[in-house]
Amino acid sequence: MEYAISARGLAKSFRGREVIRDCTLEIKRGEVYGFLGENGAGKTTVFKMLLGLLKPSAGEAAVLGLDCVRQSPEILRRTGSLIETPVFYEHLSARENLEIHLAYLEAIGDPEEALELVGLQETGEQPVAEFSLGMRQRLAVARAIVHRPEVLILDEPVNGLDPAGIHRMRELFLHLNREEGITILLSSHILHEVEQTASRIGILTHGRVAAEVDPQEIGKDFPGGMEAYYLQVVGEGGTGHE
Ligand SMILES: Nc1ncnc2c1ncn2[C@@H]1O[C@H](COP(=O)(O)OP(=O)(O)O)[C@@H](O)[C@H]1O
Ligand SMILES: [Mg+2]
Repeated sequence: MEYAISARGLAKSFRGREVIRDCTLEIKRGEVYGFLGENGAGKTTVFKMLLGLLKPSAGEAAVLGLDCVRQSPEILRRTGSLIETPVFYEHLSARENLEIHLAYLEAIGDPEEALELVGLQETGEQPVAEFSLGMRQRLAVARAIVHRPEVLILDEPVNGLDPAGIHRMRELFLHLNREEGITILLSSHILHEVEQTASRIGILTHGRVAAEVDPQEIGKDFPGGMEAYYLQVVGEGGTGHE
């Protein structure tokens, strides 16, 4: 079967230190997959490899069946992404930033609609330089969805948002998934956040996905729920892979 996102034996070393090793990931179309891991676990590193921004030391990865390492422009057009601290044209408005992004991708989309979906419709001509951290994060999400991608790769998408903003984003992600069938891979270091959104959670620790769970089911097999389970997996550094 063709996965929306797949990785096999993925590894990455920085100056001889192996940060990701033998990471395997298989995400089906239509899933909301939560990538959970402590700060420094390697979430961003994996996402960068999926988007062709970092070259793996070993292994292979594909998005929509397209090889990530070859950096196919088609991957960029068919995915939307938000990685770490997003960079914008500071002197331009939110709408102008989205228009430039669409032109760069040679894609069509509706900037006004995307801004409305993230709650930035009132910003008008205000330059991004004047935006708060939360507003920038919302704009980053708008940029990730403006061309209506098939797959969304969102690295800590609710960082810097207030509780109402987090709620709104969560609703938006679920809407995009359910109504438009967009496959979503999102990362977080906050258990509660992933638990609320994801239909499947992969726990990244010691360089690989050490466990995968359905957050709805975990309570049945594991008294103490997701948190107790997570702490056990992270504490033990994996389950049965070695
Ligand atoms: N460009 C880089 N050069 C050297 N080390 C890096 C680089 N990028 C990430 N790392 C290291 O890789 C590890 C994983 O980082 P990262 O993927 O950012 O983790 P996460 O996103 O889960 O917080 C960290 O120890 C970090 O210091
Ligand atoms: Mg990160």
